Amino acid sequence: MQTPPVCNYEGSDYQTSFWEKGGRAYEDACEVIALRRMLPAHGQHLLELGAGAGRNTPRYTGYDKITLLDYSRTQLEQARARLGDSPRYRYIAADIYHLPFVPGVFDGATMIRTLHHMKDAPLALAQVKQVLQPGATFILEYANKRNVKSILRYWLGRQKWSPFTAEPVEYLELNFDFHPRAVRQWLKELNFTLLRTLTVSHFRMGLLKKLIPTKVLAWMDGAAALTGNWWQLSPSVFMLTRRDAQGSQAAPDAFFACPACGEPLKDTPPLLKCSKCGHHYPFKDGIYDFRLNPPAEVK
Ligand SMILES: C[S@@+](CC[C@H](N)C(=O)[O-])C[C@H]1O[C@@H](n2cnc3c(N)ncnc32)[C@H](O)[C@@H]1O
Repeated sequence: MQTPPVCNYEGSDYQTSFWEKGGRAYEDACEVIALRRMLPAHGQHLLELGAGAGRNTPRYTGYDKITLLDYSRTQLEQARARLGDSPRYRYIAADIYHLPFVPGVFDGATMIRTLHHMKDAPLALAQVKQVLQPGATFILEYANKRNVKSILRYWLGRQKWSPFTAEPVEYLELNFDFHPRAVRQWLKELNFTLLRTLTVSHFRMGLLKKLIPTKVLAWMDGAAALTGNWWQLSPSVFMLTRRDAQGSQAAPDAFFACPACGEPLKDTPPLLKCSKCGHHYPFKDGIYDFRLNPPAEVK
């Protein structure tokens, strides 16, 4: 299957430069509130799609196991350094468009700050649905093109694209903002039930972040988020959804499948071999690598 290119985070210092030194304590605190409101009290196995350096992973406290999946091996190395090796975590380098799992494995999934790198968002969401069990919880965050700032810029003639139309806007190569109506429609077509919407990061403005203590601003955001079911005008939106009841649950001992041909794979580190198409997938330094065309290693 021909799929869109992947936004490359190999060797990126995103976690440090964007979060730790980038003045994003407010945005991070807002996400904590949203996740706390949406995560179930208990779950078995969560798939974190586009996990990056594992910034959000410690927040998934109710899940017995967490599989961190990211295309960038170096992001996963950072996640592993932060979270360590334990039977609770599994680190997997793979492409969301080619997930290396049998259908119906996970009872939960999150995809935070990752859909905005998907050129074919409906296809990516369809792949996610495949690996979820019937009735699984899926928490999806997306970047909202119809936010107050973009509306004002559009009205003042400082931005050409309309925030009101349904098509995605690619504001940087492989970085997309989506319209809430479009995301809802894609999920509806895949038979996800929308349970709750929270709008997040309403006060993402340098001056406010400087003047108002982070805790207070995040608390204000948490209050504004409660209108999310009715309107969405914030730059970030969280949706709590449930997968439909159609489909089957994977057998307890089935987990990996070849991302090239779909054949179930035995977990045989240090090398997993597909008996059908012959592809090989290495397991090295605690990380499985299921990328079909891995980028060159970063030294
Ligand atoms: C903006 S970062 C977000 C990381 C993390 N979710 C967070 O909020 O801190 C986006 C992540 O998505 C990953 N990513 C982008 N496209 C991907 C794809 N097609 N398959 C798997 N991961 C992908 C990138 O490698 C990157 O780590």
